[in-house]
Amino acid sequence: MLHTINPTSTAAWKDLEHHFSEFNGTTLTELFAQSPDRFDDFNIRFGEQLLFDYSKNLINNETLTKLIALADECKLADAIKAMFSGEKINQTEGRAVLHTALRNRSNNPVMVDGEDVMPKVNAVLAKMQSFCSKVHTGQWLGYSGKAITDIVNIGIGGSDLGPVMITEALKPYQVEHINSHFVSNVDGTQIVETLKPLNPETTLFLIASKTFTTQETMTNAMTARQWFLDQAKDKNHVAKHFVALSTNAEKVDEFGIDTDNMFEFWDWVGGRYSSWSAIGLSVALTIGFDNFTAFLDGAHAMDNHFAETEFKQNIPVILALLGIWYNNFYNAESVAILPYDQYMHRFAAYFQQGDMESNGKCTDRNGDAVDYQTGPIIWGEPGTNGQHAFYQLIHQGTKMIPCDFIAPAISHNPVSDHHPKLMSNFFAQTEALAFGKSAEVVREELANAGKSEQEIDQLTAFKTFNGNKPTNSFLVQQITPFSLGALVAMYEHKIFVQGVIWNIFSFDQWGVELGKQLANKILPELLDSELVNSHDSSTNNLINQFKAWKK
Ligand code: F6P
Repeated sequence: MLHTINPTSTAAWKDLEHHFSEFNGTTLTELFAQSPDRFDDFNIRFGEQLLFDYSKNLINNETLTKLIALADECKLADAIKAMFSGEKINQTEGRAVLHTALRNRSNNPVMVDGEDVMPKVNAVLAKMQSFCSKVHTGQWLGYSGKAITDIVNIGIGGSDLGPVMITEALKPYQVEHINSHFVSNVDGTQIVETLKPLNPETTLFLIASKTFTTQETMTNAMTARQWFLDQAKDKNHVAKHFVALSTNAEKVDEFGIDTDNMFEFWDWVGGRYSSWSAIGLSVALTIGFDNFTAFLDGAHAMDNHFAETEFKQNIPVILALLGIWYNNFYNAESVAILPYDQYMHRFAAYFQQGDMESNGKCTDRNGDAVDYQTGPIIWGEPGTNGQHAFYQLIHQGTKMIPCDFIAPAISHNPVSDHHPKLMSNFFAQTEALAFGKSAEVVREELANAGKSEQEIDQLTAFKTFNGNKPTNSFLVQQITPFSLGALVAMYEHKIFVQGVIWNIFSFDQWGVELGKQLANKILPELLDSELVNSHDSSTNNLINQFKAWKK
């Protein structure tokens, strides 16, 4: 069980408040001037894979010591042990939280309710391996005897975002002759557009749903099945073209998928932490099973780092504590994740769910309303596109937006001088954000450009950059299955650490239920021609206008 300590009642929190009142206003320029080798104090290496530079943050050694004291007082070490050892720390659902077991390459036993889960984890991995091999070698044939060329993953949320993000990020590893597609939205446009160029004879559908009850996924799955049967005619052919990735054998069977064609996972795998499970089958089919296991290896290496490293050198812990420093003391409301890697274009979207569905909570572990800030808003886009869109606000707006910059040293596409140009922007942005440009420098530049004194007076304020914007830099050697696995696990553990300290439950998501319930109530009201008056006047009028127009 997790402890239920209100972080704001700890001595460490009070100490941090006091420290903040003295430290606030200190600038990164001052911190680097006081300690020119500041980088040495504030970086951590993760093997040869990753350099985490957090020296461009508004902290000093004292801040770090006090943040670590907060983690200690909130019993973070106990929580880490509880998670890895299979305790039911998802208490509102009575479940263990064991995405770490899915990538437990050491194979040491992990016990849940007295049973070692590793044999079943390994059995599903073996089944995935054999299935991938059959599809890749052309042994798995469609109903008319043709090999599979296209796979369509139908899922939503954790059953979609991870597979999409990972297959995109690892596109350079794509197996030849296999094209993957993803359908998540219940908006019929997505499935219609996805299916248009596909041939039912050579298309394999993966119906990915932990519960196998999710409205969007079941609707898309039925449409896919009908599209398939329109051509294949015979229901017996479904088995060759539909497989299920789920925890719910009964519902899979009800849908009409042979449970032999089901790849199982378990209730101790949270949806947004499920890419490592059977939900990763689309990834394994797209990049090959060996690359999928390398992805698991990377995550396992990060798990070991997280579980075994003292907090001062522990990347996810430091990352989490920095986030708490900005969220709870500087009142920063969001965090931008900015990958300088086009393949990682869905990375921020993936962690929007990962972080916001986990830590978007206002009730603490005692069941009381929190009176402090919890999870931040997560957003981001790949650099350099973001630079030409929203960086203006990060540089000169009124909000503090701590940013994570991520970039690979080695590009998969070293064409011409693109990569040095990309990287020059990666390095330049964190420097500009940290140190800005003073009014004196602006005046000098304007004078050198031949501007009059009057023009200089008019323009200086607009062209001045205050700097002092905190950033983390993650320089990755190359985005590989291993390093991506490590990066994803790093953020997962960051989220976990923050949830532990904020005294909230990070592994449930009750907040998504109300909208689903109301949608189920409204759906039948949309299907007849009666005027609706069962809601508030806003909702009634919107529905009635919809019904009038749809006629
Ligand atoms: O939106 C809520 C949620 O339960 C997510 O947590 C989950 O990833 C998603 O729906 C999909 O659920 P399922 O895999 O059961 O279809």
